[in-house]
Amino acid sequence: MKKLVLFASGAGSNADNIIRHFNKTRTAEVVAVFTNKPDAGVVRIAENHGIEVVVSAKSDLENGSAFADVNRFRPDLIVLAGFLLKFPTDIIRAYPDKIINIHPALLPKYGGKGMYGMNVHNAILQNKDAETGISIHYVNENYDEGAVIFQEKVGVSDCDSPEQIAARVQILEHEHFPLIIEHLLK
Ligand code: GRF
Repeated sequence: MKKLVLFASGAGSNADNIIRHFNKTRTAEVVAVFTNKPDAGVVRIAENHGIEVVVSAKSDLENGSAFADVNRFRPDLIVLAGFLLKFPTDIIRAYPDKIINIHPALLPKYGGKGMYGMNVHNAILQNKDAETGISIHYVNENYDEGAVIFQEKVGVSDCDSPEQIAARVQILEHEHFPLIIEHLLK
């Protein structure tokens, strides 16, 4: 069975959705969830599913210890689902085209430093954009600049809060992310 390693820093709704998907399809297995935040929602989610949690602090990402931990799991794909720290170069170099990220906007718009979570949705609201969406892309050494694998749009011209935009984007994330992962593993 193909092995997936997830990286997440937040609530973990995408991690939960991915784990549930592969529990059902049995086409791959989530073997570990890495996080830099031991109190993040995603930790409880992984534990509830009986999945090993590896807490990698910023220093562990920088000093090679996260790299060693990842290698232990021999992943076929590494999935960043709301992981907020810079991803380590040693892992990127060792897993070419095997690391993907989901970004809550239509890259290259609203990517780069500081563009995460509500910052993205706020910017979309302020600019009165009529649509936004999701981008699933490869992770390379320049954040948010790896090749785009998949994008999907959603209209937001009637939204008047960033939370409303976030909710629409999250629906797209949950609908598509597991399927794109499955496709990449084939
Ligand atoms: C998602 O919107 C994802 O696109 C972004 O961070 C959010 C994570 O949400 N990179 P969750 O922790 O999966 O609920």
